Amino acid sequence: MRDLNYIWFDMRALFFMLLSVFLISSCNNAQKEGKKETLKFTASETLDRLSTSMLSYLKNHSPDSLKIPRSAKSDGSLKLTSSRDWTSGFFPGTLWQLYGHSNEGKLLKAAEEWTTFIDKEKWDDHTHDLGFKLYCSFGHGHRITNREDYKSTIIQAAKTLIKRYNESVGCIRSWDFNADIWEFPVIIDNMMNLDMLFEATRLTGDSIYHQIAYQHAKTTLANHFRADNSSYHVVVYDTLSGMANEKVTHQGYSSESAWSRGQAWGLYGFTMAYRWTKDNAFLEKAKSIAHYFIHHSNMPHDKIPYWDFDAPNIPNEPRDVSAATVAASALLELAKYDVKNKSKYIQWVDQVFDTLNSEDYISSISPFLLDHSTGSIPGEFEIDVPIVYADYYYVEALLRRKNL
Ligand code: GLY
Repeated sequence: MRDLNYIWFDMRALFFMLLSVFLISSCNNAQKEGKKETLKFTASETLDRLSTSMLSYLKNHSPDSLKIPRSAKSDGSLKLTSSRDWTSGFFPGTLWQLYGHSNEGKLLKAAEEWTTFIDKEKWDDHTHDLGFKLYCSFGHGHRITNREDYKSTIIQAAKTLIKRYNESVGCIRSWDFNADIWEFPVIIDNMMNLDMLFEATRLTGDSIYHQIAYQHAKTTLANHFRADNSSYHVVVYDTLSGMANEKVTHQGYSSESAWSRGQAWGLYGFTMAYRWTKDNAFLEKAKSIAHYFIHHSNMPHDKIPYWDFDAPNIPNEPRDVSAATVAASALLELAKYDVKNKSKYIQWVDQVFDTLNSEDYISSISPFLLDHSTGSIPGEFEIDVPIVYADYYYVEALLRRKNL
């Protein structure tokens, strides 16, 4: 009798255990389904996967100032670089963002170590890429840790960057090369470096950085766009008259074509400039660029653009995943200001995320997260390979989606 009682007790215990497991798991699934909306994986689930894959790279790769990951070659080997390269801030920036998601101490330690290498770039006044290098790294570091030394680095970088501002043009000079043919070149990418200047005014109370960034954006708005809201890559100014003399390309298919990453930089840049200035002209431009990008007849069904919207052999042209991730992150910010189109933007980004979660787009070369970006077809480098800035903006977009 005693034995029978024990058996009955064990069966009841087993039954309640199974019931609890079933209830907990259906509750979790329901929560996930609720969050999932149209996504196969939530942004948070994808970020978990990316954090894990980054941690396994860090286990076998110590910080090295001359080996900052930039891209992969077609033979699978890595292209590693130093702080001088315009892409140097993206790897530490990705680590900071993944730390922000996961709270994993090893990611914090690595983010701090890789960020230190970039510090000396705050003195380099031969480049406009100081925002990419120092704000994508130290900017996140400062946001997350509030460290005073990080704040000083951002302020010094802003001081150095505004040395390139020309009063009669109303812009920051982009490149120093090709000086024999371009007197004062300004590229659409340069909009991205303004975020750091606006932040420098917030940090110091000195309005000079904000004023210069604001004027740069206004001049770019006036001269960089065509009637259909696509943008030129390079506008060359005359420093005496301040006039735009020439409109050409460096990385696009032709001077009159729409280089995809350039369209994404413009979309991101004007959305961000609206955040800081509340100038309605910037918001209207961002909305128009978004419309151009989303509704372009050459946009593939999976929402990953070809490297140039006017590339001659579409559909047999390389894609540029980086253009897709930069635009995705921008659209998730624009969704906050352009409420009428909010659900359209979110739906678009969710489709991009679903595409990027497919086997074809997940990079097999660590530490890169995504395959199929294109650096420069005219320059014949980084064609259809993993590139670090595609990853950086992917993680940023996922975090924006998670926090919506
Ligand atoms: N800013 C350089 C590029 O987008 O390739």
